[in-house]
Amino acid sequence: MLSIVVCVSGGGTNLQAILDGIGNGTIQNTRVAGVISNNAGAYALKRAEAAQVPAFCISPRSFESRQEFNRAFVEKLKSLDPDLIVLAGFLVILPPEMIEIWRGRIINIHPSLIPSFCGTGYYGLKVHEAALSRGVKVTGATVHYVDEGTDTGEIIFQKAVAVLEGDTPEILQRRVMEEAEWVILPAAINRIAQAAAQGRI
Ligand code: GAR
Repeated sequence: MLSIVVCVSGGGTNLQAILDGIGNGTIQNTRVAGVISNNAGAYALKRAEAAQVPAFCISPRSFESRQEFNRAFVEKLKSLDPDLIVLAGFLVILPPEMIEIWRGRIINIHPSLIPSFCGTGYYGLKVHEAALSRGVKVTGATVHYVDEGTDTGEIIFQKAVAVLEGDTPEILQRRVMEEAEWVILPAAINRIAQAAAQGRI
């Protein structure tokens, strides 16, 4: 059984897609050991509680320094002992130690076709604003492994989504979520869980 921890910052629709995927069998051999948010007001925490998954808030605001936050965050992760860490709309720069400890075992969902509209400063709606400003006709989402860079790790899955006339950033964001993110993030977790179950990782 693959034990995952999901890190979130906001609404948690990708977390919901994971919980639903485990519920309906799209994701097999997987359990959510915990959900961690950096933001006490994140609706994602309510989704975790509704699914009876242990939910925690570790906010940088509660610590005197970034180092102290990083230490507390890594300690919480260690206590949950995940096989895989899933960044599902987690908008925090990761503690460097976290990448070392769980190298090759952290994945992220990004709302564009990497290498377009990714890297520092590209997150959430900003990604879709940039795609619309550039006038691309196709965008999408990417699930990738996390390394020291920003959105530079090995790509696992990508899915393209059409940009349509009259799209606003909000409308495009929703279409990318529905057609791509909520599909490829559960699919990536399932693929990793199946590989783990067969002893391939
Ligand atoms: C999602 O669109 C996710 O791809 C994006 O934040 C949103 C979170 O939504 N992540 C990034 O931009 C990471 N660079 P959610 O909280 O409803 O899942």
